[in-house]
Amino acid sequence: MSVPHDIAIALHERLNTANAVPKSMPPSFYRDHAVYEEEVEKIFLKSWVCIGRADEIPKVGDYYTVEIFNEPLIVARQSDESVAVLSNVCRHRGSLIMQGSGNEKRFTCPYHRWSYHLDGGLLAAPIVDKTPGFDAKQCKLPTFKSVNWMGWIFVNLDGKAGEFADEIQGLDQYVKNYHPEEMRSVNATTEYWDLNWKCLAENFMEGYHLTPVHRKTLHPMTPTKLCEKIPGGEGYTGYKSHYSDTFEGRKQVHPDMTTEECKQSMMVWIYPSFVAAISPNSSVYMSITPTGGSQLQTRWDVIARESVFESGEAEERHEFAKAFNKEDRERLIDVQHGLQSRFATRGYLAPPDLEGTVWDFYEYMAKKLSL
Ligand code: FES
Ligand SMILES: [Fe+2]
Repeated sequence: MSVPHDIAIALHERLNTANAVPKSMPPSFYRDHAVYEEEVEKIFLKSWVCIGRADEIPKVGDYYTVEIFNEPLIVARQSDESVAVLSNVCRHRGSLIMQGSGNEKRFTCPYHRWSYHLDGGLLAAPIVDKTPGFDAKQCKLPTFKSVNWMGWIFVNLDGKAGEFADEIQGLDQYVKNYHPEEMRSVNATTEYWDLNWKCLAENFMEGYHLTPVHRKTLHPMTPTKLCEKIPGGEGYTGYKSHYSDTFEGRKQVHPDMTTEECKQSMMVWIYPSFVAAISPNSSVYMSITPTGGSQLQTRWDVIARESVFESGEAEERHEFAKAFNKEDRERLIDVQHGLQSRFATRGYLAPPDLEGTVWDFYEYMAKKLSL
């Protein structure tokens, strides 16, 4: 393992010390460039990474672009209605082909006008197609392995990740009755924060901070004291964020939902960095990817049921999520600052219902980084 020594020791302890007292990882875990490089190589390129929602591209020819780990990608609805994830790098001399999002019959590179079918096959290479030895078959845009889980698209860049369903085995039972696949995107937003990706993922997935940080926003609905962890699995962890008695539960908007499910949000973390708060009417999710030791990209959104759009509340919910994200961001910038200190140290974690998700995550990281 080529992560710094103090991290190697902490990860080793996490895996090998029965009944270890749960403590946070050493500060360098959250700022060191060498750790970031290890994470990209050993985890992100080999794992399933969420890049958005299938409902963002409902019609044939709809597409959006996204970039993770210097891989520009096009996510496109195919003529058979499936979703494909293609490289957004022209096979001529490497230009980016598409920008933003839209609907196209073909993808045309702006540089010399090579064009590609929706599935990445080369359609035309003006002038060059007459060159002796030119072979159109060699010019297909690479396609990446992807899966659709409850409407979210996950991609695996190296093509060698285990089956997605195996990695999250045991998780569906907590999520399926909410039917997130019936919700749709309100406004997918990409942001860049000067923060280590793990600080944001851990923060999204621990309930300990809900009451102190979100006193006016989330606390009246989901206070810290009502968090209840679920058992973690190989590739995920989570907790139930029960609604306070003083907060009116959501109506049973789907016949599959139990009374308990109407009165909680299901907090889900699919490793490494997909985090979501899944609720009866709408959900908030983030797909977080590191862009450096203390920089990240987050593509986040609120997804909502049709009825929420009809009542005009969808935008409002997105604004609400923006408000509590801002509260988190203010705290997390201070965390990243504090972690630079020579005297920053490992700290005791709260009991499992409040920070057990973080402790589960360390186990995952220890396994992956020691491979
Ligand atoms: S780089 Fe795309 S057509 Fe030349
Ligand atoms: Fe928060």
